[in-house]
Amino acid sequence: MSLCSENKEHAEFVGRIIVLVGAGLALMLVAVLAFAAGEPAGHAAARWNPLHFKPAIEQADDKECLVCHAEVLKPSVRAQSPAGVRANTAIAWYQTLEVYSGDQDTFHRRHLVGELAKKLMNLRCNTCHQGHDPRDEAPGTSATTQATGYTLRKQVDPKTCLMCHGQFNYEVMGLPGPWAQHGETFGNNCLMCHEGIRTSRHNVNFLKPRAIEAAGRESAENCYGCHGGRAWYRIPFPYPRHAWDGMDKDVPDWAKNRPTASDPRFLLDEWMSPPAPAAATPAPPAPAAKTGSKARAQSRPALARKARKSSYVRIQTVKGSQHVSQI
Ligand code: HEC
Ligand code: HEC
Ligand code: HEC
Ligand code: HEC
Ligand code: HEC
Repeated sequence: MSLCSENKEHAEFVGRIIVLVGAGLALMLVAVLAFAAGEPAGHAAARWNPLHFKPAIEQADDKECLVCHAEVLKPSVRAQSPAGVRANTAIAWYQTLEVYSGDQDTFHRRHLVGELAKKLMNLRCNTCHQGHDPRDEAPGTSATTQATGYTLRKQVDPKTCLMCHGQFNYEVMGLPGPWAQHGETFGNNCLMCHEGIRTSRHNVNFLKPRAIEAAGRESAENCYGCHGGRAWYRIPFPYPRHAWDGMDKDVPDWAKNRPTASDPRFLLDEWMSPPAPAAATPAPPAPAAKTGSKARAQSRPALARKARKSSYVRIQTVKGSQHVSQI
């Protein structure tokens, strides 16, 4: 009797094991099939998503990155640090600039969704993120590594930051010293000189040139904010030297090796999302009129490209080389 029931229990136990093992195998089969069918296999695969690398990252839309990285734009600054320091009492020097507004915020929010950022800039994820190797963050260490576009141990090339966070280059401007000490002499007004000098500026896809000029008229602090007021580096950025109306033909020594146009990846043509601006401002015939006969000689696609540009942009031909400038 007892032997019989023991046997029965044993059989039930074995049966259960068989069912469990069967279920396990079935689950593994599903997992293998899912993997083979190219289903996302979690964090590890997402890390190697093609969007993290060239060429895909160059075309990536912010929305595509934010599908996985929504957290970078979430407000996440603590009101108080774990050690008890309150954010609103710990102000850095650059946060005392007249143009700093609002509570402390994260780096990404300050550059992408902050008040000032929205007013003057048009930064996108791939303005800064140009791809990097998640394995060891060192270029050229393996056959699969992306060859260019990133710096050792850095996810973003600091030269990108230097464009807006370099020193105020008073030497090339012929000013007697730093702006903080000599700004007053020039009426605290960059436009006193820059109404006529280096006027072809800011026509790049990550800035809002018209808004910047308007802001510069309100206060030089707005200009200074990107040209020395928030200098994290000891060096100035060697800006491209776009030709401007009335420019002296002699190139000064310091500018001899400077490029005369912005980095191609920043040129407006490549990133213009035509529908929105075209709807807001009716496509201007003005640029074609301004450039006169030279415009007429251009091909149709070139003209079509131009018509898509917002109204402040015009094409100039200087010494046979074309460049985009601002009206
Ligand atoms: C399919 C989801 C997904 C998409 C789309 C995606 N990422 Fe990621 N990304 C990840 C994951 C997962 C990691 C690894 C995070 C970790 O290990 O801490 C990561 C890491 C990163 C890192 C940090 C790398 C490191 O080693 O710490 C950066 C920077 C980054 N992504 C930027 C971007 C940008 C810019 C885009 C759009 C061009 C983008 N990602 C698109 C999922 C994604
Ligand atoms: C102004 C330049 C800039 C812009 C614009 C920018 N990033 Fe970053 N991002 C950085 C820098 C710098 C780091 C830190 C890199 C490092 O640690 O080497 C970073 C880090 C990251 C990381 C790593 C995790 C973290 O929070 O530290 C992710 C993910 C990321 N960025 C995603 C994005 C996405 C998505 C966008 C667009 C919505 C974006 N970034 C726009 C400069 C930028
Ligand atoms: C196109 C110009 C531009 C570029 C490129 C740029 N920044 Fe900035 N950055 C700004 C402006 C403008 C502010 C001020 C934002 C504000 O006050 O809301 C700022 C603010 C900051 C701040 C202060 C944030 C705070 O807490 O107030 C840091 C830190 C910073 N940038 C670092 C960087 C780094 C690092 C990079 C490169 C990865 C970079 N920036 C690229 C324009 C730029
Ligand atoms: C006294 C006149 C004067 C004032 C005031 C002045 N600048 Fe300049 N700036 C110049 C001259 C001259 C150059 C060089 C022009 C050239 O390329 O030959 C220059 C060049 C520049 C450049 C390009 C530097 C480079 O390395 O290519 C920037 C950026 C600039 N100025 C920003 C400013 C800002 C911002 C202010 C106000 C905070 C300002 N300037 C005030 C005269 C002035
Ligand atoms: C949000 C940041 C920002 C602000 C604000 C800003 N600049 Fe710039 N400026 C830049 C960047 C970035 C470049 C380089 C763009 C490029 O690659 O062509 C530049 C380029 C220049 C140049 C070089 C022009 C050339 O030959 O291409 C001058 C001059 C200049 N800025 C003056 C000014 C003046 C004057 C103001 C205020 C009216 C001002 N900037 C405000 C970011 C800024």
